[in-house]
Parts: sequence; structure tokens; C-alpha cells
Amino acid sequence: MTNSLEKPSPLEVIRLGHPVLRQVAEPVPEEFFGTDRLADLSRDMIRTMLSEDGVGLAAPQVSENLRLFVYWVPGDDDHPDIAPQFLANPEIKPAGDLVEVGWEGCLSIPGLRGLVPRFSRIKVSARDLEGNPVSLTADGFHARVMQHEFDHLDGIVFLDRMESPASLAYEHEWERYVLNQPDDAQGSDL
Ligand code: NI
Repeated sequence: MTNSLEKPSPLEVIRLGHPVLRQVAEPVPEEFFGTDRLADLSRDMIRTMLSEDGVGLAAPQVSENLRLFVYWVPGDDDHPDIAPQFLANPEIKPAGDLVEVGWEGCLSIPGLRGLVPRFSRIKVSARDLEGNPVSLTADGFHARVMQHEFDHLDGIVFLDRMESPASLAYEHEWERYVLNQPDDAQGSDL
């Protein structure tokens, strides 16, 4: 899928240092589900995520102190794209103890990449725009994206999850010196 709707981002993505990124967000109240306000926020967050070339965006990143996020997952040889999704009030549990280390970036920490350990497989329960319960199991990059976005709801950023700051790299240098190793080809702003 294309990463750009060729329109400016409808919402401003705040960057590290803004206090909202370090707050624990509030649950989406029951009365918000099924409203135009929530649908508009979801649409604007998806447009912002795509126009900024991100694969995930959590409400605190657009100064909304609510427990919700949007994401999409680019496909690979074995999997089709997962179209943009909205999840509110998510709960995440690891499914097994397998942990994978992979590259992450963040739209709120532009230009940097770092290696972050995440559970390989997770179970997620959440609510959709109408408030209907959603449950799913995710693995690999899909699971990584959701764990990264979930952390934003608790005021946590990927830098906090790195085992060591030694892998931290600027995107330009990362592309030049790291990305040419085939196993390290993942790394996206979330
Ligand atoms: Ni992020």
C-alpha cells in the first residue's frame, strides 16, 4: 500500500520532551464509542501516520491523553499488508516467553533507530470504534508494533526498552552501515 495520501498531516505529532508523552493515558470513556468524535480522531490519526510514513501512532503522540492507537503492518513475501486498524483500551499479554530483538524507530523521536527486545507473540484484547470487543493474536513485526504503541499509553518510549544504548543510530547512518545486513532490514517509525 502507498504510504502517502499526499496531504499534510491533519494532526501534529509531538516529540520527546513534551510531557504528554510521559503520562499514563486515560481509558476511552464508554460514551465516546460510536461517536463522530472518536471516528474523526481515528481517521485523522491514520492519515497522520500514513503521511508521516509511520506504521503506528498512539493518541498521546497527537496530544490526546487516551488509551487508543492506530497501526498498519506492511506485508512481506508470506503475509499481505494489514490495513490500518484502530484499537482502544487494549490489554496485551505475552503468548509464550519467546523474545525477539528488532529495530524500532518512533515518530516522536525522529531520525533514530535502536534495537528493542519484544515478546514474539502476544494476545491482545481491545475495543473497536463502536466499542465492540476485539481479540487477536499477533506475532513477529505485528506484535512488535502493538507492544510499541501500547507502551506509549503508559508513557514509555522505545529508548526505555533498549537493553543497551549501544545500538542507537541515526537513520541515515543506520541505513548506510546496518541495513545492508539482510536480517536487520526491519525498522520503522511507530
Ligand atoms: Ni512511537
